[in-house]
Amino acid sequence: MSAAVTAYRLGPVEEIPAGEGRAYAVNGERIAVFRLRDGRLRAVSAVCPHAGGPLADGQIDGEIVVCPLHQHTYDLVTGCSRSGQPDLRSYAVHADADGQVVVEM
Ligand code: FES
Repeated sequence: MSAAVTAYRLGPVEEIPAGEGRAYAVNGERIAVFRLRDGRLRAVSAVCPHAGGPLADGQIDGEIVVCPLHQHTYDLVTGCSRSGQPDLRSYAVHADADGQVVVEM
């Protein structure tokens, strides 16, 4: 049996500058959506597992985000930590035909 997946529209893709992230509250969770410089979207949990840092405010280096608090790094494709921390939860995300960010949880 698979868990039900619900799609949530978060707002226009243009609200996220290329190469940056934005945090959203979705269904009681904090989600960080990143818009990579090549236009791809990635969505992961917004709270750094190390000590709760705001990952949406982190710098992106390619497909890696660097937490602004203590510089631990996470792969935005897989959610995996690159620096020995617990992994991030990752979510399916895309832009729909209206240019809205849609995340599936
Ligand atoms: S809270 Fe993110 S690296 Fe410490």
